[in-house]
Amino acid sequence: MHRRITAATRLARMRWIAPALLIALFVLTPGAMATAPICENGAAPSPTMFVPMSKPAELILEISWLVWGICGLIFVIMEGLIIWCIFKYRRAKDDHTEAPQIYGSNPIELAWTVVPTLIVFVLFLVTARTIFEIEKTSPPEGSLEITVIGHQWWWEFDYPEQGFVTANELHVPLTRNGKSVPIYLTLESNDVIHSFWVPQLGGKTDVVPNHINHLWLEPTMTGTYVGQCAEYCGTQHANMLITAVVHPEEEFDAWVALQKTEAVNDDSVATGRDLFQKTACINCHTIRGTVANGTFAPDLTHLMSRSVIGAGVVSNTPDNLMTWVYDPQILKPGCRMPSMKLDEQGVKDIVQYLLTLK
Ligand code: CUA
Repeated sequence: MHRRITAATRLARMRWIAPALLIALFVLTPGAMATAPICENGAAPSPTMFVPMSKPAELILEISWLVWGICGLIFVIMEGLIIWCIFKYRRAKDDHTEAPQIYGSNPIELAWTVVPTLIVFVLFLVTARTIFEIEKTSPPEGSLEITVIGHQWWWEFDYPEQGFVTANELHVPLTRNGKSVPIYLTLESNDVIHSFWVPQLGGKTDVVPNHINHLWLEPTMTGTYVGQCAEYCGTQHANMLITAVVHPEEEFDAWVALQKTEAVNDDSVATGRDLFQKTACINCHTIRGTVANGTFAPDLTHLMSRSVIGAGVVSNTPDNLMTWVYDPQILKPGCRMPSMKLDEQGVKDIVQYLLTLK
């Protein structure tokens, strides 16, 4: 019977394709990631560990390259030998003899036991050294301490030293009294396991209920760095973003000074403020200086100093606020905030009030 050679069989006969694709993937991926575009001040538009802007992130990248290099070398040597063998020792068309069968060889077995053991040992030692360098069980000297609390699905940032709480945007200074300042985060969860990750600033660290983890960051450049929750934590896990802003010293001091003040009390929006205080909003949100003192949801005292709402789901614009207050489920389906069933005027009044909370 005459067999037609289809494109698929022809492709299947090209045995070099799989290894070639693997090699291409192996070589191109880190290259592509390493050349991530950079915005102003060294901040990348999407999370990347390849442009470290903090001491621990630099240490992590260093060891990644080392591991990548060793593994890459092994990969290339092994794949090279396999491909070479495939071509060199392929069976001739009319050859039906069996290849020589070899059993047991002390030198070969010794080689493939000792060499990998040595490689693993080297990787173990350098990894252990980096882990010890990065892991700080107590705050480094002169550090700024911030408590990070993971919630479904937003971040609470508590500045105990300065005495205020904010949400979703982590603000830190580049220096204190002209010297670089370690940031010491205490990570806690209010519900399920989350993971705090701003890759340009530091490693991924789990945020576990009934357990305290710590994370050390030490920024080396000002800028706005993006991060995200890195542990699946429910419906809106993907919209649990982090904005980390590293400020020059004076700018950070000004931000702190603003955050410490009570909420703006503007009488032109009294209708909205009264409505807010009469609605269930106050059970979950705090606005310092009003009766609202809930802690279940983000503190809104200085809502308008933040660039996003809903932990980064949309930018903080009047239109988005209108939609959010009317029904948050439109923008962030499954989030814990229900629609308050306010009429159109009520939504407008409350948003007018919220817009004054600079
Ligand atoms: Cu929080 Cu995923």
